[in-house]
Amino acid sequence: MSNVFVPKSEIEKQKEIAAGLHNATVNKKACVQTYGCQQNVADSERIAGALRLCGYELTTDTSQADVVIINTCAIREHAELRVLSGTGQLKKQKEKNRDMLIGICGCMAQEKHRREQIKRSYPYVDFIFGTDMHHRLPEIIRSALSSKKRVSFVTEVPHNEFGVISEDMPVLRESSYKTGVSIMYGCNNFCSYCVVPHVRGRERSRSYDDILNEVNTLVKNGYKDITLLGQNVNSYNGELSFPGLLADIAAIPGDFWVRFMTSHPKDASDELINVMAENEKIARHFHLPFQAGNDRILSLMNRGYSKQQYIEKALNIKEKVKGISLSTDVICGFPTESESDFLDTLDVVRSVGFDMIYSFVYSPREGTPAAVMEGQVPHEEKVRRFNALTELQNETALKNNEVFVGQTLKVLSDGSENDAYIGRSSQNKIVAFDKPVREGVFTNVLIEKAQPYALVGKVTD
Ligand code: SAH
Ligand code: SF4
Ligand code: F3S
Repeated sequence: MSNVFVPKSEIEKQKEIAAGLHNATVNKKACVQTYGCQQNVADSERIAGALRLCGYELTTDTSQADVVIINTCAIREHAELRVLSGTGQLKKQKEKNRDMLIGICGCMAQEKHRREQIKRSYPYVDFIFGTDMHHRLPEIIRSALSSKKRVSFVTEVPHNEFGVISEDMPVLRESSYKTGVSIMYGCNNFCSYCVVPHVRGRERSRSYDDILNEVNTLVKNGYKDITLLGQNVNSYNGELSFPGLLADIAAIPGDFWVRFMTSHPKDASDELINVMAENEKIARHFHLPFQAGNDRILSLMNRGYSKQQYIEKALNIKEKVKGISLSTDVICGFPTESESDFLDTLDVVRSVGFDMIYSFVYSPREGTPAAVMEGQVPHEEKVRRFNALTELQNETALKNNEVFVGQTLKVLSDGSENDAYIGRSSQNKIVAFDKPVREGVFTNVLIEKAQPYALVGKVTD
């Protein structure tokens, strides 16, 4: 793909437009609501950065806001329904504040049928923009402020082409000590159930220098937990391959962890596993979605690996990277999945022993091949399988956590929540401890008790 990089002149133009808005945005507030994955969280931080550049003060309270932007997710029907009901709730606020602007962006905004629905049924939405348009937010806000009509900024381009990368727009991060850094965007895998390649466009990678500069600055500014983000980070295709990039980031001086999300099993290479094994600064956590255990279903899903290949890869990671925790995603009730096919899913769970499973009931997505396959599984059956999986996982997770009892773990404090002091370990385990530690500071905790989804212990330093 050529020319994915937005020219610097375009970015300069947007910065000028933003400066020109400052008179109109004096004492005005903006709010960004985020649904969906970490990629969306990272996008929202760029949206917030652009809003601040336009002169807005950021707030998390929609009732205070003069502009509300809803960054949407389209991964499952449930996610879309939540967005629509959240949008519906803003109608009342707009009745009180007629000048309030409401904008919709993100993955739903990339779907034609949803855009049409929003235009039809949500007349109080003032502007819609796609995932390729974040850098043009100043221009979008200017149009929305000056136009009485709704404005739409979504590129309608053929599937095999779309996707840009914009650098040098400001980012306003939610946390001062842990954050995500996108290293690539889009997806070329076209798993047959998944909407992401349809809404996020083709794979494209940021340059090695841009990523290294960003991470270096974050480390200098005290960030302790940095997650490299991409739909499939192993497809990173900059000046180095992903394992090379990861090794170079781990070599940046300073006390921090680097993580990554997500890895496709067909592309998680031995080189990556070796780089992890050799670098303690790469967090001891691997998220490796397997989706389903049965080979026929895996092939219908277009996943590109077999049950056996997956199990071997997962066990190999566990063996080579000592103390690693493994998490995964599973879909229950993909079209034509029978009870005995589902038993293969449970079998993978037993063979690998995951620390965490994110399980989902299959949700047909318009425009994907699986949505029109014969043999859709009834909803109750999908839910039954989901529950069976959860039950098995609860037992496995507890067994995995019991291993940590008696060990001292390095923990990054998240401060206190509901009167408990909590943080995360390198394995991404939630750790509760006995005394306050400032958020964003590393501490050592002697683990005394295991629960299925948390460890409990005493601070030792
Ligand atoms: N790029 C990542 C996943 C992105 S979506 C990867 O390939 O692993 C996150 C998870 O949502 C997927 O792993 C899958 O388990 C789930 N998912 C995606 N489409 C879905 C659908 N149509 N129904 C139910 N779950 C789905
Ligand atoms: Fe979706 Fe598959 Fe791409 Fe992940 S790899 S985003 S599941 S198409
Ligand atoms: Fe949702 Fe888009 Fe992420 S569909 S899961 S927000 S890439």
